[in-house]
Amino acid sequence: MNKIPLILIGGGGHCMACIDVIELEDKYVIEGILDKEEMIGRTVLGYPVIGTDTLVADLVKKNFHFLITVGQIKSAGIRKRIFENLKAYGAKIATIVSPRSYISKHSFIGEGTVVMHGAIINARAIIGLNTIINSNALIEHEVIIGDHVHISTAAIVNGSVKIENEVFVGSNSVLCNHIEITCHTIIGAGSTVTNSITTAGTYVGNPCKLISQKNNHL
Ligand SMILES: CC(C)(COP(=O)(O)OP(=O)(O)OC[C@H]1O[C@@H](n2cnc3c(N)ncnc32)[C@H](O)[C@@H]1OP(=O)(O)O)[C@@H](O)C(=O)NCCC(=O)NCCS
Repeated sequence: MNKIPLILIGGGGHCMACIDVIELEDKYVIEGILDKEEMIGRTVLGYPVIGTDTLVADLVKKNFHFLITVGQIKSAGIRKRIFENLKAYGAKIATIVSPRSYISKHSFIGEGTVVMHGAIINARAIIGLNTIINSNALIEHEVIIGDHVHISTAAIVNGSVKIENEVFVGSNSVLCNHIEITCHTIIGAGSTVTNSITTAGTYVGNPCKLISQKNNHL
């Protein structure tokens, strides 16, 4: 089968993790990376930075597919803007799933989402657009995750949890079942969320507490 030519947008650490998954999946061939002007000419794991996002329109016409490989912690803003820009150009956006993850056939994964090595997505989970399900994350049955969300490494999202758009869930955190997390929330690494979060802000600890209501996303 012919591999699909793919352009990555963002050449940092998250890009490296994505490259590893893309290579293992073996469905796409990475033709280049777009990043800042000063990165042009460098390589990331052997793949060249070929230009900035000013090339997107031209590359869309040439039928390349795209994956957003910019990371996301305190704000989903950059990933969301790039996604909306790609959609405005009518770009084809890849969805990447590690062959070393487990995805229930009864689940759904949205366009532009990447599921990294070791992640588990259980029955009737629904994952939105442009979301990162990072290595070893566990998404339990009937979880609903919105768009532009990052579920970090080894986070546990228990059954029937609902996570709105642009949320960050830190590494090793635990979300108890049946709770809801409002959009733009940041949950710190190692935190335990026992109740629904209805006020956006940064929450840390066990049980987690609000430490800042400042909304970095807006
Ligand atoms: C939550 C987080 C985003 C907060 O970052 P920040 O706004 O820069 O906050 P600060 O580092 O200034 O910390 C503010 C306070 O919260 C505490 N704190 C921060 N993160 C914490 C955490 N995860 N658990 C417990 N306490 C935490 C700090 O110790 C500090 O306490 P103090 O005021 O008593 O000194 C960050 O600490 C974090 O957890 N990032 C996630 C890392 C991660 O999971 N990466 C995954 C990549 S896949």
